[in-house]
Amino acid sequence: MSVLVTGGAGYIGSHTVLALLERGDDVVVLDNLCNASEESLRRVAALAGKAPVFVQGDIRDRQCLKKLFADHQVSEVIHFAALKAVGESTRMPLEYYENNVAGTVILLEEMREAGVWNFIFSSSATVYGENAPVPYVETTPIGGTTSPYGTSKLMIEQVMQDFARADERFNAIALRYFNPVGAHHSGEIGEDPAGIPNNLLPYIAQVAIGKLEKLGVFGDDYTTPDGTCQRDYIHVVDLAEGHLKALDNLQKGQGCRAFNLGAGKGYSVLEMIKAFEKACGKAIPFEIKPRRNGDLPAFWADPSLAEKELGWTVSRGIDEMMRDTWHWQSKNPNGYR
Ligand code: NAD
Ligand code: WQD
Repeated sequence: MSVLVTGGAGYIGSHTVLALLERGDDVVVLDNLCNASEESLRRVAALAGKAPVFVQGDIRDRQCLKKLFADHQVSEVIHFAALKAVGESTRMPLEYYENNVAGTVILLEEMREAGVWNFIFSSSATVYGENAPVPYVETTPIGGTTSPYGTSKLMIEQVMQDFARADERFNAIALRYFNPVGAHHSGEIGEDPAGIPNNLLPYIAQVAIGKLEKLGVFGDDYTTPDGTCQRDYIHVVDLAEGHLKALDNLQKGQGCRAFNLGAGKGYSVLEMIKAFEKACGKAIPFEIKPRRNGDLPAFWADPSLAEKELGWTVSRGIDEMMRDTWHWQSKNPNGYR
């Protein structure tokens, strides 16, 4: 039996595929390569000493899914495939709803058709919206999202809940990621954003390597200890391991559940800059810019439910996040290109 990983050539997907192969699972990756390159999977195969099956295709393509499920015995699906740029989603809401929401519905329909009932979904802390108390806890009702991207994640969680209520064969877990950063310790796979990065760590890393001149810090007048926003950064390999724990837990078959995957601690933008400077041994030039639209001042996870139910906690701290990001960036100044 194989695990189907949609979006498995992407940043979090590639690290998860590696962790699955390393523990001996057979993996089929479905990715349309709209935001990834097959090179990530070649490197995963070299690291694991075993390759995943790769199908280049789209989650919205029913014929492709039918063939994939007919060709391979799939027991579980980990569903990473999505468009993920928050700002872009406000400009292209229909594309985001079509790719993320409609795509997931098609995937679930074809899973049902093929008799595949186990499903893990990449959700996001963004589903807690702008008014949830911090730390975010799974018992807080989700809603109040501030972008079509965030709303697409919220809608998919709703679809999963409704499907699980209607069909007791469906076992699903939504994993709500906080801020994934870092790379595999080998420096062989990592985050490879197209164009100018939107996210903090890839931006800092490209300043350090000399591709970008200086970082803009979006606001220093928030009501946080140093005035800059605080986030819960989580090492991508810890995150990948969370998926393995969730897969094991799915076997208990308990409908649809959601877990936070975060460290439970917030770091400010200035703290992140300092920590990266320590890892790379260079100064990171920055200037204070106006606040970025839609940014929340501070949030982090209460990760205790994942610890209790999945037996998962983070084991890598900020030093490893920075060290591994720098290792990946300096070894691959142009990413996979
Ligand atoms: P990514 O863009 O690196 O990976 C997504 C992959 O999905 C890419 O390889 C892309 O080519 C593929 N894809 C997109 N649409 C597809 C489609 N219709 N059919 C087939 N393949 C498709 O992003 P990532 O950072 O690895 O994120 C993975 C998942 O985690 C996404 O669902 C994202 O929304 C979610 N997530 C990411 C973060 C983050 O900060 N990186 C935080 C929370 C949640
Ligand atoms: C982190 C902090 C910025 C860039 C986003 C999505 C979220 C999730 C993860 C998918 C913030 C500051 C950033 C820069 C800066 N993705 N910053 N200068 O916004 O917390 O979360 O990615 O689900 O949904 O919204 O992450 O890395 O963009 O920003 O000062 O050039 O760094 O203001 O405080 P964010 P981020």
